[in-house]
Amino acid sequence: MKANLTATLTDNETGKTYQLPIMHGATGPRLVDVRKLYGESGMFTYDPGFTSTGSCQSKITYIDGEQGILLHRGYDIADLAEQSDFMEVAYLLMKGELPNKAQKAKFVNDITMHTMVHEQISTFYRGFRRDAHPMAVCCGVVGALSAFYHDSLDINDPHQRMVASYRLVAKMPTIAAMAYKYSIGQPFVYPRNDLSYAANFLRMMFSVPAAEYEINPVFERAMDRILMLHADHEQNASTSTVRLAGSSGANPFACIAAGIASLWGPSHGGANEAVLNMLVEIGDKKNISTFLSRVKDKNDHTRLMGFGHRVYKNFDPRAKVMRRTCHEVLTALGVHSDPLLELAMEMEEIALKDEYFISKKLYPNVDFYSGIIFRALGIPTSMFTVLFAVARTVGWISQWNEMIEDPDQKIGRPRQMYTGATARDFKPMHLRA
Ligand code: CMC
Repeated sequence: MKANLTATLTDNETGKTYQLPIMHGATGPRLVDVRKLYGESGMFTYDPGFTSTGSCQSKITYIDGEQGILLHRGYDIADLAEQSDFMEVAYLLMKGELPNKAQKAKFVNDITMHTMVHEQISTFYRGFRRDAHPMAVCCGVVGALSAFYHDSLDINDPHQRMVASYRLVAKMPTIAAMAYKYSIGQPFVYPRNDLSYAANFLRMMFSVPAAEYEINPVFERAMDRILMLHADHEQNASTSTVRLAGSSGANPFACIAAGIASLWGPSHGGANEAVLNMLVEIGDKKNISTFLSRVKDKNDHTRLMGFGHRVYKNFDPRAKVMRRTCHEVLTALGVHSDPLLELAMEMEEIALKDEYFISKKLYPNVDFYSGIIFRALGIPTSMFTVLFAVARTVGWISQWNEMIEDPDQKIGRPRQMYTGATARDFKPMHLRA
């Protein structure tokens, strides 16, 4: 990172000029360093939604939204999705390099040593209503981990940080599957460490004591790909939430619970569930054009869920892989007869040719296809966003660790443009109208 050039800011009201250093990352747009701007000029920058603001330096993930590029530690997401697996991507995100054979075997072993949850956590679940949304349950249970694992709460101890990170990655599938089992009144299924991360999750979801679940390799591979494709996505809303929560020194379990809360929203991770709900609402292919007219109507707030992205103004590179996986899964499972899935495919075809979406550079995002795959795999709609959270936990925790180790790290504290009343005299109650 070099900062040998400056941008000049001229304040037309006072005639003063300020020299702002220009920073260069390893690649990507240059950044104007405004850290000293307030001290020197008394002005803040204004950027709601942080559309032009870099909040940190990071070596983990690079996105070029114009070109549709996503790299983890320099590796293209398409190569990772084709040639790697979720545990390897998790290692890469957390440690910075791809593992060799021995490193991978050790990592998988270390993670699987933590897949079980404290037995008392199962009683904790019983405090939730059965009809609670599993995201509500996961948010609560992950936050509660800090009440169970006191030996990994010291964020200044690298060993404790690593143990907490492994615990979170290992326990998320267990916690998620338990939320599902609780909602349908079935007994919890314990993890099995001889299975892959994806297969273990599927088994904990679908196995019952009376009948073992047979793992379909197509399902296992699709699930593993979905996990890889959702593993990290630089400074999105939930990751920024994790970093912001962590910037105050909060423990990792609390920070990841905050990330889960942020992910839940329909503009972010909640979109995969919203896609399915939207398809149910449309109901039939014959209603697509009416629905799309609502989407295009400025006075109607309907959006085509699963389309558009804050950063990608070209095809979402994750969606490319997901689309292929989606078609593979549907073909392998012969589920062409599901009217909702047929509707989704028709919708995709129409929207991709529609001038409104083309002109606004709105392409299907990863969530358009993941929802469809999840449905084909038999995963209930309410669990879709939970699966996103399972996958993203490794990204969140890698970003959290990077933040803790960053010497530039400060407590996150944005400022504001105040638009309320200025100082006025207090009126006692008897003088108010
Ligand atoms: N359907 C219809 N119009 C849309 C859509 C959509 N899905 N997305 C954006 N637009 C229009 C929007 O109305 C606006 O039009 P105009 O310029 O005429 O006012 C223009 O495109 C730009 O939209 P924006 O809201 O300013 O863009 P943004 O970058 O703030 O929003 C987004 C990004 C993802 C929130 C938005 O595209 C959206 O709501 N998509 C649907 C929800 C969704 O699928 N979210 C998942 C994102 S991918 C998973 C993840 O990483 O979390």
